[in-house]
Amino acid sequence: MPRVPPPPAPQHHDALPSPRIRRADAVDLDALVALEERVFRHDRLSRAQFRRHLDSDSALVLIAKEDGRLLGVALVFFRRGAQVARLYSLVTAPEARGRGVGAALLEAAERAARARRCRTLRLEVRTDNRAALRLYETRGYRHLVHRPGYYEDGSDAHRYEKPLR
Ligand SMILES: CC(C)(COP(=O)(O)OP(=O)(O)OC[C@H]1O[C@@H](n2cnc3c(N)ncnc32)[C@H](O)[C@@H]1OP(=O)(O)O)[C@@H](O)C(=O)NCCC(=O)NCCS
Repeated sequence: MPRVPPPPAPQHHDALPSPRIRRADAVDLDALVALEERVFRHDRLSRAQFRRHLDSDSALVLIAKEDGRLLGVALVFFRRGAQVARLYSLVTAPEARGRGVGAALLEAAERAARARRCRTLRLEVRTDNRAALRLYETRGYRHLVHRPGYYEDGSDAHRYEKPLR
């Protein structure tokens, strides 16, 4: 009788392999724009902006991919001589949320900032974005300041930062 392989064991969140994270390049442009358009209604990055960031020394576009599909993106900005890097955007594709993709991208952004000798990673987050607030607060980010009307649609932001040791 042919041997039938057992069905794969159900995996716990912690047992999931970390997604592969790498710097994005021009072949990823379509997927970057498509994810941006799926997830954000305001303050979207355009194709031209992504293209510029892909080519820029002061920007780093990190992506998580699995089986050729884009799972998530982190965009970090650097300024020459500055010790503060800025996490401008972090997004996980809706179907990939809750699997550790956002946390892995955040860690990769921190590693990249450390590698460029930055001492701090800073970001803005909507005051009503519970998932993102929890992500940052559980990963060592502290609240700096409240910024009313920060976003295009008039909603407020919190600024957070983390010292990178
Ligand atoms: C915020 C976002 C990036 C999180 O990505 P994700 O891949 O689902 O997050 P992870 O699975 O890595 O979870 C990391 C942590 O985030 C927090 N978190 C994630 N989803 C959450 C939810 N629905 N409710 C509460 N906390 C949540 C938890 O602290 C979690 O850590 P834990 O698993 O150790 O408890 C994702 O929800 C997203 O893309 N949202 C839309 C875009 C956005 O708001 N980006 C942030 C802009 S500042």
